[in-house]
This record gives sequence, C-alpha cells and structure tokens, in this order.
Amino acid sequence: MTGPDGRPQSGLMGSRPSQEPQQTVLLLVLGTQVQMLENGLLRVPPMGWLSWERFRCNTNCKNDPKNCISERLFMEMADRLAQDGWRDLGYVYLNIDDCWIGGRDSKGRLIPDKERFPNGIAFLADYAHSLGLKLGIYEDLGKFTCSGYPGTTLDKVVLDAQTFAEWKVDMLKLDGCYSTSKQRVQGYPKMAAALNATGRPIAFSCVWPLYDHGLPPRVDYKLVADTCNLWRNYKDIQDSWTSVLSILDWFVTHQDILQPVAGPGHWNDPDMLIIGNKGLNFEQARSQMALWTILAAPLLMSTDLRSISPQNVDILQNSLMIKINQDPLGIQGRRVIKDQNHIEVFLRPLANQAFAIVFFSRHTIKPYQYSSSLAQLNLTDATMYEAQDVYTGDTISNLKQTTNFTVTINPSGVVMWYLYPLRKQQLFQH
Ligand code: GLA
Repeated sequence: MTGPDGRPQSGLMGSRPSQEPQQTVLLLVLGTQVQMLENGLLRVPPMGWLSWERFRCNTNCKNDPKNCISERLFMEMADRLAQDGWRDLGYVYLNIDDCWIGGRDSKGRLIPDKERFPNGIAFLADYAHSLGLKLGIYEDLGKFTCSGYPGTTLDKVVLDAQTFAEWKVDMLKLDGCYSTSKQRVQGYPKMAAALNATGRPIAFSCVWPLYDHGLPPRVDYKLVADTCNLWRNYKDIQDSWTSVLSILDWFVTHQDILQPVAGPGHWNDPDMLIIGNKGLNFEQARSQMALWTILAAPLLMSTDLRSISPQNVDILQNSLMIKINQDPLGIQGRRVIKDQNHIEVFLRPLANQAFAIVFFSRHTIKPYQYSSSLAQLNLTDATMYEAQDVYTGDTISNLKQTTNFTVTINPSGVVMWYLYPLRKQQLFQH
C-alpha cells in the first residue's frame, strides 16, 4: 500500500487488510502503551527550507517588511523554491519556525499572528501545495516556545495536532523549551499518536534528545526513533564555522551511539545548512554540504533564497551530492580515519555497493596533500573501483585496493568522492 506521497506505508495508518488485524494491532498498541509514529514518511532525509537560523524571531514588519516572520517571507521563499530549481531537486519542505503564533481562540485553538499572517496558515499551505511544495510548522511542548510564544502543553497536544491537520500542514517541528524530561517522554509519543490519528501524513521533527543532553541513558534512542521522523540531538547551529565544527565534533565523538539509530524514516538532525549566509567561506560551505550528506542529515537550508550567490546555489544544487544524501539505504556515514596531520576521512555505504568518501582537512593555512589507498580505508570488496569527484566531476579510474592516490584538500575544505565498483563488463572495456 502506498501513502498519499506515493511511498509505501506501514503500521497503524498504512496496512489495514481487514477489520480484525487492525483491531488486534490497536489492542496491542494500547495494551503495551506503545504509541509509535509509523507514518511511512521520510524514507530519505527531508530537504527544504527552514526560517530559523537566517530569519530568527524578526517580527518587526514595520521596519523590515522583507525579512520579518510573515506570510510574505514564506510566499517569497515558496516562489524561489519552485522557480529556481530547488523543488525539482527535492527541496520541497517550506518550514515555518518559531514566532508565528498569535494566541488561541475561544475554543483554545491556535491562531497565527493576525498582522503578519493575515490569511492564516491554511492559506499558506494551499499556496505551498499549489507550487508542489509541502508546508512545515513549529510548536513547543512546554508552556511557551523557545522565543516565548504560546506552547502546546500536554492537554493541548491532540487539539493542536488536529488544527495542523485541518490546515493541511505536512511537517511539525516540536520544540522542548519549558518542558521537563517527564513531560517530553509523555508528550512526544502523545503527539506522534495524535498526528497519526488525524489521518494526514505529517512528518514529525522532534527537538527531544537535545533537551536531555543528547545521549543515553537519559535519551532512549529506540523510543525516539519509534516516535519521530527526525530529531535534533545537539545545540542550535549558528552562522559560523566554529558552530559547524562543534556540531560535527559532537556527532563524531558519539558516532557509535548515533550512527546505528538513523535509517529510512528516522534521522539524526545536526541542524540547518547555513550555506549562503555570512559565516562560511567557499571551502567551508562545501564542507558543510559534504559532511551533512555523509551523515545522512536532513538538508534544510536556512538562507535568503532571493539573494543567494550562484556559487552557493551550485553547492546546494549539486545533483550527485543530493543523490548521495538521498540514497535509499539510508545508512549514516562514519568517520573512519583521524590522521595525525589534521585530516579526517568519512565513509558512507550506498546502494549498489557504492560509497561516498569525504576527505576533510582541518588545516587552516594551506592546501594539504593526503595520500592513501582503498585498502587503507578497508574498501576491499571489489577488484576495481572508479571514483567521481562530487564537486569537480573528474573521474578517477582504475582504483585497485593497493593503488596509491593523493588528494589535495584546501584549508577547512573537502574532497568528496562517489566511489563505485566496476562490473565485469566495465572492467573488460577498461
Ligand atoms: C530552539 C531550537 C531552534 C529554534 C528556536 C526557536 O532554540 O533549537 O532550532 O527552533 O528554538 O525559538
């Protein structure tokens, strides 16, 4: 059975062969108090745009009408996503973050800020859908959102899920400010079940592990992965290279815990792409894209698509990069080498016995020449490989396990390869 987005569905919403098994499943679920998401969504990491890092909580539409959190901003970004090639490459989510809420009506239902969203959220969702996009929205489990707007609280979870579904929202980011650990353990699964019960496919993005310091024993990653389609584990990204490195370091330090948890339908989220903003130079922007791709991370851009430079567009719209990010196996990559010369190598297994490799330099002054072989990277499956440089498009042929190769890596930069085995017939042609 396929879902409304054409993807196979499983679990409560998806497989309903007859009345009886459905009841059995429901009884089992109720009996064991397991409330799983199982919505069949996000079999590959989500791609799209999210307002927070670039536009924050700018509500000053009087002085800054172009950049404030408002209907206009989201419609203009929707236009760019649809018209500038983004949507067709997979960047389909147009996601509202904090600071959209105006309050609650007499029935307790959420309403957007009337001045900044005069036509309401359903209107924005329709607009997004008319352009082939999906709309994401933001709420918080606590009394307030992180920026101080009305939160959902446990008693409003079901009502808010219904409101989002009525508005035809496609993704919910549920933050955790002003909530306790106990409320989160109850609230996130409760929201997952409430979203499921609406019958509308709504992807569920949780900022849950972050508030419990990201690691077991406080974080139960099995429960998180059963509840959420993606989740923030660590601190907010800021517009700086230092911030990107601190996130990368945390993910790598804890890769033995984090890497096995990710897979189709459930992803670790190292936070937004900041490419196109002020904080990264060209090499660093390429590095963030490559490293996030190796980590099977969501590709949620937070930048001004109305003024982004062609150079940054090229990085974000690299089709081989996107193919790797969206690989159907959904295996998160790992750092496999930390060289004493400040070089690190990351590897991600892909479909068809291919791999993505990122050679990353922590040098900051000059390019570094790094020599290695596939055997040193433990890639000994095939007799002969070929590699395509993801950024330059160059092909590196006849790579046997013992072939020594040298890559030149720019400061704070990467060389990224798509490595695939040559089949017998191709071997013959070579
Ligand atoms: C938290 C989240 C951010 C953003 C802000 C909004 O800090 O981690 O991603 O949503 O709240 O206030």
